[in-house]
Amino acid sequence: MSIKAALFDLDGVIVDTAKYHYLAWKRLASELGFVFTEKDNERLKGVSRMRSLEILLEVGGLLGRFSDEEMAEMAARKNEWYVQYISKMDESEILDGTVECLKGFRALGVKTALGSASKNAMLILGNLKLTPYFDAIIDGTKVSKAKPDPEVFLLGAKEVGVDPKDCVVFEDAQAGIEAAKNAGMKAIAIGKPEDLSGYDKICKGLHEVDPEEVINM
Ligand code: BG6
Ligand code: MG
Repeated sequence: MSIKAALFDLDGVIVDTAKYHYLAWKRLASELGFVFTEKDNERLKGVSRMRSLEILLEVGGLLGRFSDEEMAEMAARKNEWYVQYISKMDESEILDGTVECLKGFRALGVKTALGSASKNAMLILGNLKLTPYFDAIIDGTKVSKAKPDPEVFLLGAKEVGVDPKDCVVFEDAQAGIEAAKNAGMKAIAIGKPEDLSGYDKICKGLHEVDPEEVINM
């Protein structure tokens, strides 16, 4: 067995929060006077909150028109709406196979960690009652560099005391797959081959993951 820790992205791997991010960003765009489509929203997956705002403003042709204070206020306004949505989440929104996967790795003696860009990760994990399944939780409040920088995954590996080369990362975003590879870890992509590249293996979701097979990667 070579894999000793499994690190999981949150949004798009454990839970589908993209729909709530989308509703909140769409509302902000509407207040600013333009339409933000679901296709535009694809560009925000795995991207930090402030970078998401920049992309949104670029779509609306408004990039560069606002001060740093105005940008911070808009991001905070969007986050308030987003938090209203995620506050209503419960276990029924956990994506298929998540709990089995986390339990499966632990039963094999593999450490589990969360590696997410979100500053709302603790709230989401709490509502989904998933917090106890992780040996370490690294979220957007603990890192300063966004994926594809490896910081989030390297911190996760450090916290569970496992060498990066013995870690596997589950990621749905291209920037996240690159972050895993930049950390020197194995990367299992969650999604479609036409959307992602540079991974070691690809699955449609955690329901397709067999921990026993993964640990011998
Ligand atoms: C990532 C999401 O996990 O977290 C991005 O894929 C999001 O869409 C980012 O922008 C930051 O999330 P939050 O909750 O801190 O705004
Ligand atoms: Mg993601």
